[in-house]
Amino acid sequence: MTHYVYRGFERFWHWMQAALVLFLAVTGFEIHGSIAFFGFEHAVRYHNTAATAFLVLIAFAIFWHFTTGEWRQYLPTWTNLRPQAEYYLFGIFHDAPHPTRKTVLSKLNPLQRLVYAGLKVLVIPLMVVSGLVYMFYRYPQRHDVVALNVNGLQTVALLHTAGAFLLVSFFIAHLYLVTTGQTITSNLKAMITGYEDLTYDAEKKAAEAETAA
Ligand code: HEM
Repeated sequence: MTHYVYRGFERFWHWMQAALVLFLAVTGFEIHGSIAFFGFEHAVRYHNTAATAFLVLIAFAIFWHFTTGEWRQYLPTWTNLRPQAEYYLFGIFHDAPHPTRKTVLSKLNPLQRLVYAGLKVLVIPLMVVSGLVYMFYRYPQRHDVVALNVNGLQTVALLHTAGAFLLVSFFIAHLYLVTTGQTITSNLKAMITGYEDLTYDAEKKAAEAETAA
């Protein structure tokens, strides 16, 4: 049966975040010196602008998560964590059924809960704090924040870059995992339209077997 799983703001936030993180990664790694695309000075300017947009988006997303109670979706759980990991390592290659049933009230599997919660409470705050310290420490005269007692930019740059590597790794793994839903495109369609057929795949197989018999 088809359910409305992802609401309007949720989808907007998801796609904006994806676009901003991708753009921040491209401009950030140009600042870092790994790639050349916009030119260094443009990259710095674009990175700062996108970072400001990201901060605004984060503020709205925090508000949305708490006012709708959707933050509870991200509470990590041990239940089914191991079967879920085993599914991605082995079961998926043998057409095993998905070990976690997706519902509107619990739409994330235990691995997603763990990873997304980690992103929300560790990696994104790390990027925001290190990015802001970077911004204001780097330009103390312009922004007049001379009181920040940070000894050198090295640690900040290292943390910010390490977080960027984590986010890029997540992004790549996420693209693969998006294709591992009930069908290759079901997760993607759900995040575009909001609607998804949440019939458990074991139920589908049973129904198919019944019709075939
Ligand atoms: C609100 C969030 C963020 C803020 C405030 C921020 C801010 C900054 C600032 C001020 C710089 C130094 C640029 C300069 O030289 O003027 C920087 C560098 C950089 N940023 Fe961000 N950034 C944020 C998010 C991100 C994200 C999400 C990524 C990647 C996915 C990223 C990747 C990088 C990289 C790789 C560098 C170069 C680091 C280095 O080589 O030292 N940033 N960021």
